[in-house]
Amino acid sequence: MCGVMGYIGDENAQDIIIEGLRKLEYRGYDSAGIVMVQDGKLVVHKKKGRLANLEKELEKHPNESHIGIGHTRWATHGAPSDVNAHPHTSMSGDVALIHNGIIENYLEIKEWLQREHGSVFQSETDTEVVAHLISVLYNGDLLDTCFRAVEKMRGAYALGILHENEPDKLIAIRKDSPLVIGLGEGSNYIASDIPALLKHTKDVLLIENNEIVVITKKSVTVYDGQRNVVERAPYHVTWDAATAEKEGYDHFMLKEIHEQPKGIRDTLVSRLDAQGNVKLDGIRLTKEDLERLDRIYIVACGTAYHAGLVGKYAIERLAKIPVEVDVASEFRYRDPFVSDRTLFIAVTQSGETLDTLAALREAKNRGARVLSVVNVVGSSIARESDDVFYTWAGPEIAVASTKAYTTQLMCLYLLAIHMGRTLRTISDEAYALYIKELTAMPDRISGILKQENAIAAIADGLHRKRDIFFIGRGLDSAVAYEGSLKLKEISYINSLAIAAGELKHGTIALIDDDVPVIALANQDALFEKMLSNIQEVKARGARVIGMAKAHNKAIEQAADQTLWIPDCEDIFTPLLSVVPLQILAYYVAKLKGFDIDKPKNLAKSVTVE
Ligand code: F6R
Repeated sequence: MCGVMGYIGDENAQDIIIEGLRKLEYRGYDSAGIVMVQDGKLVVHKKKGRLANLEKELEKHPNESHIGIGHTRWATHGAPSDVNAHPHTSMSGDVALIHNGIIENYLEIKEWLQREHGSVFQSETDTEVVAHLISVLYNGDLLDTCFRAVEKMRGAYALGILHENEPDKLIAIRKDSPLVIGLGEGSNYIASDIPALLKHTKDVLLIENNEIVVITKKSVTVYDGQRNVVERAPYHVTWDAATAEKEGYDHFMLKEIHEQPKGIRDTLVSRLDAQGNVKLDGIRLTKEDLERLDRIYIVACGTAYHAGLVGKYAIERLAKIPVEVDVASEFRYRDPFVSDRTLFIAVTQSGETLDTLAALREAKNRGARVLSVVNVVGSSIARESDDVFYTWAGPEIAVASTKAYTTQLMCLYLLAIHMGRTLRTISDEAYALYIKELTAMPDRISGILKQENAIAAIADGLHRKRDIFFIGRGLDSAVAYEGSLKLKEISYINSLAIAAGELKHGTIALIDDDVPVIALANQDALFEKMLSNIQEVKARGARVIGMAKAHNKAIEQAADQTLWIPDCEDIFTPLLSVVPLQILAYYVAKLKGFDIDKPKNLAKSVTVE
């Protein structure tokens, strides 16, 4: 979704802003723009398409501005075009601003502006309305004007605002859309996300909902919604810019696939004490807390939802507590049974997904306790949760989520094991075995990564197919959904994942010799049943790529090609089996020549409903 980068200081604003926007490209965008103060005037440049188009335009207008704001737009209101790109300006051009989010009542404000002030609009966007609004409300004090403007606005917004009469000041406003402030020496920054700032500073202020920030070269003042000054200690970022670079890999996605052993090791180690017991410091899950629960909801979107499906299996099997898994955008509208005996677990990489955040608020309002599994420290969902279980995946840049998924699985397994131990639904022997298994996982994933070339060879040919099926039973069906999502989001091949036993109830009609089937047979308990399902699709002509544990050699006879995972307990296979599917999706997309890190129509952080 949209990226925001602003700068004020002594350096060339344009260079810093464009470079920052480049670091935010992973969020997904279709146009880009910038506003700078030049000779006391606000000067705007904006272009549809990639940042390179904007840069080409800027080459024609060299300047030495020291203050400005840039934006990459992901279209919601109005098609991608030069005119709909941000920044947007007021009629007289005295106000220019950029926006990430949606102004829900923009039509109402627009009609009021047209009626009362004769406003004429250039674009189809909701954002332009805010520029006009601030201009008509302006009373010589931009901060006061912004406070009055937000009273009229509903929706989600991270805004960066410049006014011609106050050229040494940048104002930022946040409600439900991500915004951080970078603190430099004699310079300050605003951005949607930390990677845009890391070259300049590691000290950031995390801005809360309804706060308005006044930023000058030498000062940053944060006001809450009641106009009180807020004192907040900066957050010091512990990872560096290199962590957010490709480091020799062709794509962030491949780099992040390879970072999984480290990500799951870091996530595990941070939650084991010296004796190897799970410690959930800061997370309140006592025996009494758990015994009071009548159900758990795991709520998330996309890949994080698929992690939730595995979490359900693990918690129900190990802790014997009923778990429902919901897609966040559905949960909030279906009047779910939530009470003060409900534990609501939100799973999210970004911590900013609006559907998940809204579901969390709904659950909280109904009395649930909220625990979130989050990757981005200090994100909205982390801040609004009662307890946070951080995944230590490090920054995930590629739009297609990989290491966030496996670290989410690690958190959910640790939760399940901890709950089972606390409730005595698993024995001490089983507990010790599970910890041993999880500890072995990073090396097992490294072993799979060594098969990368063999997996890439299987991708050859798949890239010409129109439809590809994924089938599996039990936990393998949950992983099939994730494998299928990975493939379709970056290769644009139509793919369907289905529980293997369900095929014969209708879907098998779609199988023929031009439809490859990826059959996951990683559960020892269900292996023979899967061999029968493989026979069913082979009988319809399908080419089958089977996946099984190393000792289940019979898969070689059943399938045309084979993917292997190391032997392990059935319950933990998703941590391993997803990896060949990620690699397969990556190489299919590569063979098709697509922009793997930035697939069409997708955004990394989905901050609109
Ligand atoms: C797919 C993908 C998305 C996200 C989903 C939730 O590869 O990345 O499906 O998983 O948009 O995002 P988060 O985890 O940030 O809430």
